[in-house]
Amino acid sequence: MIDNGDFQAYYLRRIGVVTPLTVPTTKKILEPVAEVIAADISAHEPAPVYSETPSETPSGGSESITGLEQVRQAALQCRDCSLAESRTQVVFGVGSECPDVLFIGEAPGEQEDQVGEPFVGKAGKLLDQMLASLNWSRNNVYIMNVVKCRPPANRNPLVEEVQACSRWFDAQWAALQPKLVCLLGKVAAQRVLGSDASLASLRGHWHEYRGVPVLVSYHPAYLLRSPTQKARSWQDFRVLAGRCRALQAAEASSR
Ligand code: URA
Repeated sequence: MIDNGDFQAYYLRRIGVVTPLTVPTTKKILEPVAEVIAADISAHEPAPVYSETPSETPSGGSESITGLEQVRQAALQCRDCSLAESRTQVVFGVGSECPDVLFIGEAPGEQEDQVGEPFVGKAGKLLDQMLASLNWSRNNVYIMNVVKCRPPANRNPLVEEVQACSRWFDAQWAALQPKLVCLLGKVAAQRVLGSDASLASLRGHWHEYRGVPVLVSYHPAYLLRSPTQKARSWQDFRVLAGRCRALQAAEASSR
């Protein structure tokens, strides 16, 4: 069993934060090793206990198509918005078909558009490392985006594109029936939670969408630009993994 300190150091190393082998517990001990991590003392505080804050549930789209493969086949043909003109291919999703944890990003980038899989670029490599630090991989979680086709020049998806993609998003969610969801970045958080609040205010507590506990965290691309925030992402992933373990234990004991 890895204790919290070891686990934190391991996680931070996996995602590229330089941190001492023995994780200090006070600011005083941190100061001599004032590297990236020192900017984020909060990472060394006890794990946050996130409260339940049910949020508005936006109205759902069509869920008449059921079964993940059926939804995927239909989505691959979609021409409901202008992104169909510029995409190479629809980037549907990857991972377990009955995931404990569903990760949702924004939209495919250039590499995802070429490969046909979400999060395969630099941000995806970081996400893989974050998953690996929890002994997870893209095979035992599920990863998808709010919007299935690449917006030109990697701009944020437009409201009408998010709306047009809603039926695939909703049908995919319904087929997957995730037990926990992690929203990566503002676009995913605002879309799912039906909120225009900042990421900072949406992060740090549990939400609920369609009866599923939902956590908001940073987008890996943002973490690449702002590596000091990687320590905070560790807090989120630790909370997520803790709840996942609790769910699995509850399921095992009810068998
Ligand atoms: N960013 C996303 O939000 N999704 C991807 O698939 C890749 C980068």
